[in-house]
Amino acid sequence: MSGNDKQHFKTREVRAGVRPDPVTGAILTPIYQTTTYVQESVDQYLEKGYSYSRSGNPTVSALEEKITALEGGAGSLCFATGMAATSCTIMGMVGSGDHVILSDVVYGGTHRVSTKVLNRWGLECSFVDTADPKNVANAIRDNTKLIFTETPANPTLKLTDIAAVSEVAKAHGIPHVVDNTFLTPYYQRPLELGADITLHSTTKFMEGHNISVGGSISAANKDHLEQIMFVRNCLGSNMTPMVAFYTLQGIKTMSTRIEAQSANALKVARFLETHPNVDQVCYPGLESFPQKALADAQASGHGSMLWFEVHGGVESGKKLMDTLQLWSLAENLGSVESLVTHSVTMTHADMPREERMAAGITDGLVRLSTGLESAEDLIADLKQALDGL
Ligand SMILES: Cc1ncc(COP(=O)(O)O)c(C=O)c1O
Repeated sequence: MSGNDKQHFKTREVRAGVRPDPVTGAILTPIYQTTTYVQESVDQYLEKGYSYSRSGNPTVSALEEKITALEGGAGSLCFATGMAATSCTIMGMVGSGDHVILSDVVYGGTHRVSTKVLNRWGLECSFVDTADPKNVANAIRDNTKLIFTETPANPTLKLTDIAAVSEVAKAHGIPHVVDNTFLTPYYQRPLELGADITLHSTTKFMEGHNISVGGSISAANKDHLEQIMFVRNCLGSNMTPMVAFYTLQGIKTMSTRIEAQSANALKVARFLETHPNVDQVCYPGLESFPQKALADAQASGHGSMLWFEVHGGVESGKKLMDTLQLWSLAENLGSVESLVTHSVTMTHADMPREERMAAGITDGLVRLSTGLESAEDLIADLKQALDGL
């Protein structure tokens, strides 16, 4: 058993948030494709909870209830994209002149919005190696109002000790947000480890089938939830009912998919370790993973993300990606299809090279998101591409 409920995770994953439709008995929450909601009377305004679909929608509410049943906390909010979740969270929690500490390795979009958009409204950002909680403590200033970590981080898989950083954050009264996209609440639950807010790109494992982009947050504290909901409503960054519907279906198999995808990832990682044209393999399930003890302690699984360095640098990496046939060269992760990305030219293209190299995002880093295909076929494809270098 785990989480905030008496039912097991897999039961909540399928059942929470969804009730048979009161009108027809339909087992799935309908797609409430509507802009507005007719009110009974002026006096009974908002009695049924909805006024206008930018502020709230019943299909989206069902997904929010399900995510809360999985992540825990006081409630959840869903957004148009993972980046909308990140932006609204930062904007809801801090203002001009405030300082935010972020992990030095974060998704490229998180780096971009902090350094190219929010800075224009006077936000100060420090990118810190949050793998060591002492670095976080040392970076705190009088005006630090938020700590934002991503663990495992995209793409290097560097880990942050969620409990240790949350302790530092709590000692200074600073909220701690954790981007939990890479592991899902099935494998890692930041709120149970002391974080204040946990965040997802639901585009990834939650929806899982490359159908839709979306985001979510779950907050331990109702006030934080309301601050962020206010910004979501003002900016119009809400999730659409159609995307909520897709995500409601995808999430039901999330734990089953990530278990199978993680098993495939371990087989792929073990194969890569043996190939002479591979210089380095990084996967939290391998004994060689530098933060193996932390990976095993704070998460119950290792996920489907891994990376490797091809012998021969960027040119070999490019050739490898062009000769893969089953792995798709595509910029997403966590889906049932196996995907390969060159982070430097794709997801982290906007990050200055010096900063990128310092964060370990090297030129030859090839990122794999292992899907649900047969591990034998995935390995055979990698083998033919590596043998040809
Ligand atoms: C860890 C992480 N967080 C957030 C995002 C942003 O999500 P989205 O692409 O849904 O806006 C991504 C996207 O790749 C990601 O990998």
